[in-house]
Amino acid sequence: MRLALSLATVTAMWAMPALAASEPPPGATACSGCHSTLVLASPAVPRLFGRDAADIMSAMAGFRDGSRSSTVMNRIAKGFTDDELRPIAAWLAAQK
Ligand code: HEC
Repeated sequence: MRLALSLATVTAMWAMPALAASEPPPGATACSGCHSTLVLASPAVPRLFGRDAADIMSAMAGFRDGSRSSTVMNRIAKGFTDDELRPIAAWLAAQK
């Protein structure tokens, strides 16, 4: 149920124009769909806006290699290379 809700939110976010001040890099809206201040209904999704970019990168590496347990992030992390994630992490870190 929680996943279904989150996926519906992602879809809704994709349909909307970017809400943030700066233009997000490719793929970043896929993250902010779940990890945004708008998704108050799901405390299971940690807030990423304003988070240190290096922390985001290391968490993603952990999800990808399975050393960090997760419900959905392991699958999401495998869909992104580090080169794709770097600008996304920097963008998330710059959001409020
Ligand atoms: C379908 C919803 C969803 C999407 C899309 C999503 N996440 Fe997540 N994210 C979660 C959930 C839920 C967790 C908690 C761990 C878990 O259960 O997988 C999480 C955890 C995280 C964490 C760990 C934060 C912490 O404090 O532990 C990071 C970093 C993260 N996500 C980054 C991303 C990035 C980067 C993207 C885009 C490439 C993204 N997420 C896309 C749902 C999502």
